[in-house]
Amino acid sequence: MKTFDLDDIPANPSTAEPLDRILARLDGRRRFLKGGLGLGAVSFLGGMLPVARALAADAGPASAPLGFQAIPMSTADTVVVPEGYAHAVLNRWGDPLTAAAPAFKGDASDDGEAQAAQVGYNHDGLHFFPIDGKDGVSGSSTEGLLVTNHEYVTPHYFFPKGVQPGGAGWSPDWIRKAQHAQGVSVTHIRLDAPGQWRRVQDSSYNRMIHANTPIRMTGPAAGHALLRTQADPEGNQALGTFGNCGNGWTPWNTYLTCEENFTDYFGTGAHPAEQADYPDEAYRQHMLRYKGGGKTADPEYAWDTHDARFDWTQTPNEYHRHGWIVEIDPFDPSAAPRKLTALGRFKHENAALTLAGDGRVVIYMGDDQRSEYIYKFVSEDAYRPGADSNRTLLERGTLHVARFGDDGKGVWIPLTLDTRGTDGRRLGEHFNESLGELLIKTRQAADAVGATPMDRPEWIAVHPRTGEAYATLTNNTDRGSGKARWPGGPKHPGADAANPRDKNIYGHIVRWREAGRDPRGTAFEWDIFALAGNPTRYADGDPRRGSANISAENTFNSPDGLGFDAQGRLWVLTDGNYGNGGDYEGQGNNQMLVADPVSGELRRFLTGPKGCEVTGITWTPDQRFVFVNIQHPGEGPDLDKAQSDPLSASTWPDGPRATRPRPATVVIWKKDGGTVGS
Ligand code: FEO
Ligand code: CA
Ligand code: CA
Repeated sequence: MKTFDLDDIPANPSTAEPLDRILARLDGRRRFLKGGLGLGAVSFLGGMLPVARALAADAGPASAPLGFQAIPMSTADTVVVPEGYAHAVLNRWGDPLTAAAPAFKGDASDDGEAQAAQVGYNHDGLHFFPIDGKDGVSGSSTEGLLVTNHEYVTPHYFFPKGVQPGGAGWSPDWIRKAQHAQGVSVTHIRLDAPGQWRRVQDSSYNRMIHANTPIRMTGPAAGHALLRTQADPEGNQALGTFGNCGNGWTPWNTYLTCEENFTDYFGTGAHPAEQADYPDEAYRQHMLRYKGGGKTADPEYAWDTHDARFDWTQTPNEYHRHGWIVEIDPFDPSAAPRKLTALGRFKHENAALTLAGDGRVVIYMGDDQRSEYIYKFVSEDAYRPGADSNRTLLERGTLHVARFGDDGKGVWIPLTLDTRGTDGRRLGEHFNESLGELLIKTRQAADAVGATPMDRPEWIAVHPRTGEAYATLTNNTDRGSGKARWPGGPKHPGADAANPRDKNIYGHIVRWREAGRDPRGTAFEWDIFALAGNPTRYADGDPRRGSANISAENTFNSPDGLGFDAQGRLWVLTDGNYGNGGDYEGQGNNQMLVADPVSGELRRFLTGPKGCEVTGITWTPDQRFVFVNIQHPGEGPDLDKAQSDPLSASTWPDGPRATRPRPATVVIWKKDGGTVGS
């Protein structure tokens, strides 16, 4: 998430809720922790490992020791890893995807055509697919396809000096360049020498899937009238993916990319009088619901100025064709990516997949906006290893949304036409008896059934052995503020048990366990795993539970990226502006920590360069290499200076040879060849 977005945390301090009030509220939910994640977890059969690594009979312990020495907070403009570890940079923005691609120009004057043949900008979710793998995780640990999301561009660095979206020097080709830098890159990489991962420069797998790539609409909303445009009268052939935040992957070897901040790309073109230009009142209401705070006409990337697709006065339904999850086969460059409407339309963060005992696929998903919801999809049919039918498995199933009770229990509410809303009416009555329309308006369906507004749900990760799910709730400064959730909408609610802080500036991590350990079910128990922020400095922590594992030494804020390694260590990646010293930036760059989910111990493993976010995580099958992305180096409070001096905020990763900071992937390994994190 970019630091200049309105949804990010503003620089005013929290007013803490009294500790005893939080404790009183939390008391009913301590059962979960006491029950623990230990012995009972061993027999769990629903995680990914039984499929991926055939370990169902002996799934092993739920926890693995943290073997590295924690590192301190850092303000240095570099990546720091623990003693005994090394790191290297690969796939910088602008690096050539093919041998014939033009070299990156240091003044960022590369045009749209050049950008389509180069690595995209602002790397986010990523996954390593072993080159000989069939199930997404097993196979070679020295060669594979590294698939990476590219979420958005930071105009200050992405365009040449003097060019800004919608301003002087703005042209259709700058839009095309931005469109070609967002989406997903596939790069074929190989370990050529110890620690030296290189792109296979002539590989036919290397490509960008970007904002102009043809994509099939699939699932219940495909062909719906709200998806039809003049260019696509049947409503089943979209163009492009952008705003690609977190990711997922499937055991049938495909990649899932999640469209998040799609609303920022649409505007009124040459018609600045926003209110007069909505096609109708229903459209306006729908647009307001998806925008969240602020105005609907906030096209900060100015694509609408020269591309009629992004001008809703000309192409109103284009808006509905984004905000989905897209499935990509990285091994088949000729296969069109597919938008999965059955998984709902919202500001998708990531997609955490697990399997039920009967092979049905369950995908957990967060909607990243203040006071939005957590969802899960349950497929209608079962995954069968090697079967062609897996390719359409995510086209049919039931989307659910979570309601978290104050008693530590929760319920998944199915978003079907027959589900009754809190007003007693069937959802079918709300959505013209059309599941397609319901899915296009997923947020409104979730509103209608009384889902729990959460503190900006970001990534979700499923423990590979216990099946328990963890979700980062990055922050929500509007909780309890009395402000409207969207123009004309209800107010942001006050603190509740699952979101225990008003004006939550540090964020927290919530986790849940499905009843009977069956991820298809509708009942779950939940708990808070970590309440972020330095508890010695701020009195709104709860030392008996969520913040007991957080100290002045390992403090962090705004947890965002999240992933479990194969041994069950939880890796937490941050996207915050506070260093817990109270100031904006300056007190500590964004970071990655590793947690033991059983003991709750948390240790800082990595700190990133200035102004960056650390996001996206994946491992080689042997767990000897971990890949993470460094997004938006050089953002932060000094970003505006970068328009005149692109090296004023960060020179990462090129250092003395830098012409401007460049988002990139970092690969980390243990020098003695051991498992990372051990
Ligand atoms: Fe793209 Fe929610 O971060
Ligand atoms: Ca974020
Ligand atoms: Ca994120």
